Amino acid sequence: EAQTRAQAVLEKMTLDEKIGQVSMAHFFRFLEGRKSGPITANAGDIFAQLLPGATLNGGGDAPQPNTPRGWADALRGLEALGRQNLPGGVPAVFGTDSVHGVNNVPGATLYPHNLGLGAAFNPALTQELARATAADMRAMNMDWDFSPVADLGRDPRWGRFYETFGESPWLVADQITASVQGLQSGGVAATLKHFVGYGSPGLGRDRANAEISTRALHELYLPPFKAGIRAGAMSVMANSGSVNGVPVHASQNILTDLLRGELGFKGLVVSDWNDIDRLVNTFKTHADLVRATAASVNAGIDLYMVPNDVEKYGAALKEAVEGGLVSRERLDEAALRMLTFKAQLGLMDARPAGSGVIADGRALAKRAAAATLTLLENDETLPVKKGRVLVTGPAMDSAAIQLGGWSVNWQGVGKGNVSYVPKVSTLATALKASAPAGVTVSALPDGKREALLKAAKSADTIIVALGEAPAAESQANNPELALPTGQVQLLRDLLGTGKPVVLVLMAGRPILLPEDLQNRLPAFVMAYLPGSEGGAALADALYGRAGFPGRLPFTWPGSLGEVGLTADRPPEGAGDAPLPLYPLGFGLDYTAFRTGDGQAVKTANSVKVSVTVTNTGTATFIVRASLPPAGNLEAVGRPVGVVQVSLKPSEARKLTLVVPVERLEAFTGDAFGGVRGEVLPGQYTFEIGDESARLSLP
Ligand code: IFM
Repeated sequence: EAQTRAQAVLEKMTLDEKIGQVSMAHFFRFLEGRKSGPITANAGDIFAQLLPGATLNGGGDAPQPNTPRGWADALRGLEALGRQNLPGGVPAVFGTDSVHGVNNVPGATLYPHNLGLGAAFNPALTQELARATAADMRAMNMDWDFSPVADLGRDPRWGRFYETFGESPWLVADQITASVQGLQSGGVAATLKHFVGYGSPGLGRDRANAEISTRALHELYLPPFKAGIRAGAMSVMANSGSVNGVPVHASQNILTDLLRGELGFKGLVVSDWNDIDRLVNTFKTHADLVRATAASVNAGIDLYMVPNDVEKYGAALKEAVEGGLVSRERLDEAALRMLTFKAQLGLMDARPAGSGVIADGRALAKRAAAATLTLLENDETLPVKKGRVLVTGPAMDSAAIQLGGWSVNWQGVGKGNVSYVPKVSTLATALKASAPAGVTVSALPDGKREALLKAAKSADTIIVALGEAPAAESQANNPELALPTGQVQLLRDLLGTGKPVVLVLMAGRPILLPEDLQNRLPAFVMAYLPGSEGGAALADALYGRAGFPGRLPFTWPGSLGEVGLTADRPPEGAGDAPLPLYPLGFGLDYTAFRTGDGQAVKTANSVKVSVTVTNTGTATFIVRASLPPAGNLEAVGRPVGVVQVSLKPSEARKLTLVVPVERLEAFTGDAFGGVRGEVLPGQYTFEIGDESARLSLP
């Protein structure tokens, strides 16, 4: 039905209107002075001139007043102007990057970034957060979220590692399903990004070429996208880098044959920011904008996120169409997809205005942050139950560090046009505010080292919060996996006092610890980028009011030589594979679990793997499968899913994971030939906790 309505509108459109329809203009075109400000008086004329099918805010611009009501009014106003000035009365759709909650309006709650949610291994929680994000977006009349990131975090040097749910394809796939369902059941279109291979750029440098074998494509990079497509994701954003030397924005093979042909995607394909221009001016793969435009539209880009030079793009696409480089049928197809997308979102109907009121998400944000926290070392320093606590370090009281990039501005708090500092619960304030009886807390900045060390000597426990400065995309690349200067020295100075030191790390990746400190810290907590309520959640866990349910969603290297090590790495010819500092799934807690009775049973299209768990708290187990000999190298223990349960004291529960057989496919074929995924007959071993079960498949 949506498509029929879209077709009716399309049929009345002129060439210029169709070209406008497939362009996305920056929202700041409609703001006074092109910065945070009121909607300009001639916004209607701008619509009539540019005819944009879509508008966006990449994070970093805001209307005046910048309040939920201000956003709701501004976007409702733009919707009305679009209805008056755009063909068929169909307004432009507004898209934005609400990648961990609505990110740039005061009063909005920011949830942990995806990497932390990957550690929570709890898709139901991910779905709840996505749904809450969608509700806030709809309250402000926002229709389209450029989320979730379905790329894998395989190289922690990469600047977008923290936006991923981790390294392991099927574990990420389950999170993607949840995120898409949460957003779209809340009335907002989801975007699977960035198709495909964006997460493995060379040397971990954002948008560097990715070398990806056909096997790795199928075995690693496609499953999260497949899952998102099955969940009904309405849009896909293209990888703005290149794969095997081919820029993805010009690859028909990737954007059409693979995405639509093989994966069956039927929705809208949007470019990433200015990426047709990048073909000419950065990659230099195409001689001019007209040729680049033709290549890109023919490859399968339906909507171009221009976002600044809309006029220039319009002229280039017109020339390409009139010169026969892009067929009118292809333009129609793209415009039809755009209109269908809007019809599905309800933009062709009169619809109620968003309330302009967003939810107080703090309780949810705290629960989410609590689920992510991962305890990596503890020699009984934690929980802190009594005595004098000294808290220090650059991350103890910093909204910027704890929220990371895509918060307030694209690059984070304090780095852009939008200048408010959001209210957050920081570690220092939460430790003080919620100290149990018998604990006294003092917080000291780390600048005055002498005074700090003096105070440290009279403390019973020192909690030092270190962290990465906020950043996004290429600016967040971290080739050395290092902390900002001086932070390791601060840690050393505090350890030098001989007092028990708890390191709390707020970072979007594993950081390399100097070798002499590895496995030597009295206590070490990975907090990822925990969001608005990170401090409150940390205080509960550090004081022992809550446990540490998080488990690493990635492999933590002990040295630069181990960067890129993943749990699914196959055996090495020389025999001894490197062991990481902490493996995928690692995490300690205050309680230990007993497992027993591992079983694997075949059903029609799956294998049911189960285990019995006894004790208290949250138990999380990654289920791994070892395949029968496949002719080609296979991982020893491929992660195929996760089971999780929260238990009462001494409670025993049977946990079952249904593993669809596609997760057991072996990828066979020649090194440079085609590959095929097939479930081989033979004996499979499933590991779950300390248990394992064998099963023969015919
Ligand atoms: O959605 C993002 C994308 O992930 C990176 N480039 C900009 C887009 C819009 O902000």
